[in-house]
Amino acid sequence: MDRFRIQGPTRLAGRVRASGAKNASLPALAACLLTSEPVILGRLPAVRDILTMRRLLEHLGVITEDVGGALRLEARGKAHDDEAPYELVKTMRASVLSLGPLVARRGHARVSLPGGCAIGVRPIDQHLAGLAALGADIHLEGGYVEARADRLAGGRFRFDMPTVGGTENLMMAAVLARGTTVLDNCAREPEIVDLARLLVKMGADIEGAGSPTVTIRGADELGGAEHEIIPDRIEGGTYLIGAAMTGGDVTLEGACPGDLGPLLDTLGEVGATVDLADGAIRVRGDEPLRAADVETAPHPGFPTDLQAQYMALATLAEGTSHIQETVFENRFQHVPELARMGAVIDVTGNVARVYGPTPLSGSPVMATDLRASACLVLAALAASGETEIQRIYHLDRGYERMEEKLRSLGAQVERVAG
Ligand code: UD1
Repeated sequence: MDRFRIQGPTRLAGRVRASGAKNASLPALAACLLTSEPVILGRLPAVRDILTMRRLLEHLGVITEDVGGALRLEARGKAHDDEAPYELVKTMRASVLSLGPLVARRGHARVSLPGGCAIGVRPIDQHLAGLAALGADIHLEGGYVEARADRLAGGRFRFDMPTVGGTENLMMAAVLARGTTVLDNCAREPEIVDLARLLVKMGADIEGAGSPTVTIRGADELGGAEHEIIPDRIEGGTYLIGAAMTGGDVTLEGACPGDLGPLLDTLGEVGATVDLADGAIRVRGDEPLRAADVETAPHPGFPTDLQAQYMALATLAEGTSHIQETVFENRFQHVPELARMGAVIDVTGNVARVYGPTPLSGSPVMATDLRASACLVLAALAASGETEIQRIYHLDRGYERMEEKLRSLGAQVERVAG
């Protein structure tokens, strides 16, 4: 298993380009199952989860081809395998996004119950209840979900909580249902808006994506489309936090500042300077950092996917930062690893109190999930001495060429194979 060896402390400085958003790419890839015509997706990040989704789609009979930096996907005919097997699904929860499109277009799907990051229980009950509301017969057996419907029928469904994957799955199911579907209490993440944009290009009729109520008028069939994925706000946000916490000066190019509002506000609060110009975001850490509280929440709140990285910053800020995690119940796995590097953090329930500033020192640490790994990388950049981070396969799931990007900003990062 590969490791990162990082020498700190480093000041991150320079320009870095945001990759395409992993979390927008995954539903966009699943959407190709909704048509027999080619879908061409640009700016897909070269990360492990995208490769896993590609393998899954190929297993489901989709023909995939790299064409000049984009990926062409063609799900011809209906007569392919409808099963998303455990071996492919176990490493990536987003495989469940194949469920809605498969049952909508092929009338049948059998999808292994998902794996992915160990950051909580993460059930898919809302996906299933929503599909049932559109008329699918759902059975759970032997670790698989089986869904059947001759043709889904539009209906009204209210999510118990805003779920990103649930909203995406139901939107993709409803675009081929007979009649109109109204989804209430939807998640509002930019990745959902991007999926809706792609589906509309494919001929779908969707209103309200990005708001709590989404209305979808079903079509008999959809066609092909070309689409460029939005920038990855979580990847970009990670580098900007790195700039603030290393006293650095980083310009993130090809970004969408509007999607990063809560993080940029918080960076301002802790004392970093944030400037915006033409899709670029510049963050400078030229003052001592001050503590600021953060509470994660569904969009447009502070993203849970940046909580761990923000905690690395909070260890260097003067005062006590309260960090409350409200989206996932088990997302403080980075706390003991940060403590090994010198951080002082108390956890009570879903609140972490970070007492700063504490000098960080390089130590051997273990990555436990995707964003926790990014937190350890940031801590290692700011720490004095060498940090070795084990199990960086977690990082490879979601960060494109991370060590190259960090090196281009002046960091000393080495990937050690084995
Ligand atoms: C997506 C993101 C992930 C991010 C998360 C929250 C992708 C591929 N992943 O994950 O990076 O951390 O949004 O922003 O886009 N829930 C249920 N029942 C369900 C569905 C969800 O109880 O059927 C709960 C979850 O356990 C969690 C909360 O709802 O507590 C939000 O989860 P959800 O928005 O569904 O996360 P994902 O779509 O899995």
